[in-house]
Amino acid sequence: MAETFRTLGIESSCDDTCIAVVENGTNVLSSIVSSQIPVHSEYGGVVPELASREHVKNIRTVYREAMESAGVSLNDIDLIGVTVGPGLLGSLLVGLSFAKALSFFSGIPLIPLNHIESHIQSAFIEFGDAIRFPAAAFVASGGHTHLFRVDEKRNLTLLARTRDDAVGEAFDKLSKMLGLGYPGGPIIEKLAKTGDETRYALPKPRMSDRSLDMSFSGIKSAMFRLVQKEGENLDVPGLAASFQKTVGDILIDRIKQFGKESPFESVILAGGVSANSYLRKRFRQAFGEQAFIPSMRYATDNGAMVASLAWIKRNETKAPLHQEAFSTWILPS
Ligand code: KG4
Ligand code: ZN
Repeated sequence: MAETFRTLGIESSCDDTCIAVVENGTNVLSSIVSSQIPVHSEYGGVVPELASREHVKNIRTVYREAMESAGVSLNDIDLIGVTVGPGLLGSLLVGLSFAKALSFFSGIPLIPLNHIESHIQSAFIEFGDAIRFPAAAFVASGGHTHLFRVDEKRNLTLLARTRDDAVGEAFDKLSKMLGLGYPGGPIIEKLAKTGDETRYALPKPRMSDRSLDMSFSGIKSAMFRLVQKEGENLDVPGLAASFQKTVGDILIDRIKQFGKESPFESVILAGGVSANSYLRKRFRQAFGEQAFIPSMRYATDNGAMVASLAWIKRNETKAPLHQEAFSTWILPS
């Protein structure tokens, strides 16, 4: 019988408490996510102090559910993977402390993992060997907007990143300025379905130093001015659709620009923003069979991508008991 290697993945970098059990890297036995959306929605964004308190409240239940639904006990786990950055420090510390306690108590080794790398890994859970290298991996979430080149040894080269707001943050801020809820992504996506994407022309800023880095704060300010100027006459679905189109144009443009110099065999779109069906369609149109986008359950934060990455890194250095968490951690490092 083939040997099994089970990893437990613990993720608490933002506002979701997530734990999963994965066998041999891709067989997801359980993946439990406890969302805090109702706690943060009235504030229009994640309140860090509330997020860490909610993680403390929920993490044991999430752990129990993940183990029960996988039908395993700690004795069946070979390695624990935990997100140690980047993210909200207080939130990260809850997951890390829980993971350390489990590891110390059971003697199961613990591996520290990067959240952005885990998002990239989410594509490999479902598509595995179909992803050819070099691949372009765009991670677009509430806190991160990074484009990497990934080689066959899974080394990452950072090609471009946002210089200010993350894409998901821009979705969240647009929703907030329209007086709608949090998270903004799904709300804007729904509104945009009935809007004209050519309704408003929004800026697509370029860096003065000719770098292909991105900026979303100018788009945010332009939208804010439009909201003020148009008042009651604002075409809300039109603005949502125009914003989504602008985001799609920018993300796809960056991949194509880098691909001109040295072509990619595959294109991965990951992170919470990859749950957006319009952007998924645009990526499929632009990159066809080369596009690999995780299904919805692995697009936003989840423990399966962490457990899967732990398996990939199972032979790397394990976390010491004094392992720290990092609010910023820029890859590669
Ligand atoms: O990866 P994620 O769950 O957490 C972070 O690592 O930040 O991403 C959350 C972000 C939020 O900004 C949310 O508005 C955005 O992903 N998001 C979306 C959609 N669903 C979630 N953005 C656009 N369209 C969506 N359908
Ligand atoms: Zn994330």
